Amino acid sequence: MSLSKINPTKTKAWKALLKKKLELDGAKIIDLFDSTNDRLKKFSINFDNLFLDFSKNIIDDKTFALLLELCEECELEKNIKCLFNGNKINETENRSVLHTALRDFDLNTEIGDELSSDREKIKKFTEDILSGVIKGSTNKKITDIVNVGIGGSDLGPNMVVESLKFYETDLTCHFVSNVDGDHLSEILKKINPETTIFIIVSKTFTTQETLTNAKQIKDFLISRSIEDVSKHFIGVTSNIKSAVEFGFDKENIFNMYDFVGGRFSVWGSVGLSVSLAVGYENFEKFLKGANKMDEHFRVSSFDKNIPVCLALISIWYNNFMNCETEAVLPYSEYLKFIPNYLQQMFMESNGKCIDRSSRKVDYQTGTIVWGGTGTNSQHAFFQLLHQGTKIIPCDFIGFKSSLHGNNEAHNKLMSNFIAQTQALMIGGSMGDSPFRKFEGNNPSNTILLDKVSPESLGMILSMYEHKVFVQGIILNIFSFDQWGVELGKSLANTLLTEIESKNILDHDPSTENLLDKLINK
Ligand code: F6P
Repeated sequence: MSLSKINPTKTKAWKALLKKKLELDGAKIIDLFDSTNDRLKKFSINFDNLFLDFSKNIIDDKTFALLLELCEECELEKNIKCLFNGNKINETENRSVLHTALRDFDLNTEIGDELSSDREKIKKFTEDILSGVIKGSTNKKITDIVNVGIGGSDLGPNMVVESLKFYETDLTCHFVSNVDGDHLSEILKKINPETTIFIIVSKTFTTQETLTNAKQIKDFLISRSIEDVSKHFIGVTSNIKSAVEFGFDKENIFNMYDFVGGRFSVWGSVGLSVSLAVGYENFEKFLKGANKMDEHFRVSSFDKNIPVCLALISIWYNNFMNCETEAVLPYSEYLKFIPNYLQQMFMESNGKCIDRSSRKVDYQTGTIVWGGTGTNSQHAFFQLLHQGTKIIPCDFIGFKSSLHGNNEAHNKLMSNFIAQTQALMIGGSMGDSPFRKFEGNNPSNTILLDKVSPESLGMILSMYEHKVFVQGIILNIFSFDQWGVELGKSLANTLLTEIESKNILDHDPSTENLLDKLINK
């Protein structure tokens, strides 16, 4: 069974939604609370320790009903089955999409067994490093780990390690991604090579940035008289052959699979640095949190399905209300890397202009996602949210309790969290002058959880992964390839040869001039 190929703009629901948009012109969210019976109950969902309130949106009962009809007409239910059944829904790469399998502990299949032995390997390695059973080549206990990867091989583990810093072990964790040599040099300044392990993460093991950094690290270790370099290198890849050729010990390689895309890979061996940084038990809790959300997504009716509702609201703003971007605003400093992580997840997945029938689309697809932590962002870009000329739908993510128990500060943080969603919606006036007026009617979703924990983080990330999937299904695009990144890589390789040989070939005038400036500096 393959994914449906339905042009959403040809559905009855889409056409009705276009009319609905005109009808709702000028409607005030606050008034919709009076005209929609039980609005809060209808437009909120409680699942486990996660509460989603989507009542502060410019939608009424009929809009929501039409969005649900859109799901039916686009055969969402059938397509969700395709995902979980492991059908080859990444058609342009002829692959299944099974990142959900990485966090399914009850998978009684061959793949399930393989994934469970991968987890055992991660567990054992983590315990052996933390207890000092595995040491560096000079017999010293490991104190630092450096994750070397880029894109999905960096953003996921880096964000999760930062988000779960409260749960950290004794190891210090660093991340190198950029091919900019200054990035690596700054990290190498901080570590002792005798007590450091470098985890080289690359699904393809062909990525220029990662291989360049790995080679420079190898040279650095040799220059520091580390005799057995292999004791300081761990590989995480699906390209075992190339990793062995590079010099990795086969036993020091952890598997990645072609059925897991880079941006969805933190749940498997790419999470090795997470396991080392917060302990295997916490890593497992993180997976189990995500698995809970997978099950919720798989079985819940669409009107009470958190990822489906978030996706539908996003489609409403993106495709009917002409909104250009959406913001994600975590009210926890621990979660400061979530917006970056979500940028890759959303924009690499749904930034496509060709539909599943190979035709150019004539409607909007991927949303532009950005954001920052509250309350910092309130003192930066919130001005534009409140008084700018654009509508920017926001997701506010907050927690009932703080981790360090500083209640005074947490009450202040959370009063800001709620006040912002309220101010954006109701608007108001801080005086007579027009400069002090707030029109309000700015939409937001509020996502409230108990506290920042491995489980709740797992739930949040899985929620967004499925939101991406639902949007891709309805917008009739392939969400799991990323051909758009290839052209630049290929041109960079050509230009690198010209820069190194100082021989500029025929290009457009601007490119030739830039090359000339670089070469003849
Ligand atoms: O260039 C984009 C990309 O392919 C991402 O999708 C991926 O996460 C990243 O590069 C890194 O790829 P790899 O893990 O193969 O080094």
